[in-house]
Amino acid sequence: MEKIILTGDRPTGRLHVGHYVGSLRRRVELQESGEYDKIFIMIADAQALTDNADHPEKVRQNIMEVALDYLSCGLDPAKSTLFIQSMVPELTELTFYYSNLVTVSRLQRNPTVKSEIKMRNFEASIPVGFFTYPISQAADITAFKATTVPVGEDQMPMLEQCKEIVHKFNSVYGETLVDPKILLPDNKACLRLPGIDGKAKMSKSLGNCIYLSDTEQEVKKKVMSMFTDPNHLRIEDPGQVEGNPVFIYLDAFSKQEHFDEFLPEYANLQELKDHYTRGGLGDVKVKKFLNKVLQAELEPIRQRRKEWEKNIPAVYEILREGSIKAQAVAAETLKEVKAAMRINYFDNDDMIREQEAKYQK
Ligand code: TRP
Repeated sequence: MEKIILTGDRPTGRLHVGHYVGSLRRRVELQESGEYDKIFIMIADAQALTDNADHPEKVRQNIMEVALDYLSCGLDPAKSTLFIQSMVPELTELTFYYSNLVTVSRLQRNPTVKSEIKMRNFEASIPVGFFTYPISQAADITAFKATTVPVGEDQMPMLEQCKEIVHKFNSVYGETLVDPKILLPDNKACLRLPGIDGKAKMSKSLGNCIYLSDTEQEVKKKVMSMFTDPNHLRIEDPGQVEGNPVFIYLDAFSKQEHFDEFLPEYANLQELKDHYTRGGLGDVKVKKFLNKVLQAELEPIRQRRKEWEKNIPAVYEILREGSIKAQAVAAETLKEVKAAMRINYFDNDDMIREQEAKYQK
């Protein structure tokens, strides 16, 4: 069986370092590993519209932001198909058929949908499209016969729901859809990077993100203002590294070479943590190091972004070509789905003859 990746992001804002360690960096590694036969990376504009119906312009603008973030992180259109969800109408048709295999109560139990409804104050009036987006996400995944879906931990309930739809479809209509596997980040710090304010999640509405497209000065300012251990008041006080965003970021970003280059007085991250825990190590020193680590990782991304920003029509062309390619694949799957459901009325000669015989008896 072919190894196929599908994943994507809603274009509701620029991507931040949480997206980067949670998924983007991994995608590029997977792309470079050469282990996958096909890689599809989707800008989920239709899904973004499920809770942004009043703001299509915002979604439109952010399609380009996300595409630029993708390309500057190293996703390569020669190796990965980058496309726009709404340009593949087959996804909507699959969603419609899958909807009949999912109950309202099952959607209500989806933990991600539940918490998102709360976050958006949708309790009183949930848009139907938003409520059912897990079904559309199952269409995204199955349309490409994805075997592997690299995403953040928050997407786990979506994958479970997708697997249920696959099993249900295959048991009702016969083996047709591929059962996908979720691929989570293997480093625990990358599962959910906290905001610079120490809040559990980086989110645009909380204003606690470091964006991939932030300038060097913006990144530095954000790092130097980061929340740390509130009880670590004087340098000589013992500090806590667990739950301390500065150390969580170091867990997620720092490599051995960063110590050799920027902080040779410590052999590795463990030594730095030990010193902080003992006392005698100030926040400013750790933050300065973190800033250097982040800049080293983000600078090449910023440079590549600058280059792509000079050539926006070329980015559109990449998305256009990717969308055409993606559509052809999804159309093939839709054909198989309709055949399995026996609703392929005009391309099934046996069925036509069967009907003929019935009326000519
Ligand atoms: N829900 C994902 C997000 O919030 C975006 C997405 C849409 C997606 N369809 C997908 C991710 C299919 C993985 C697979 O960013």
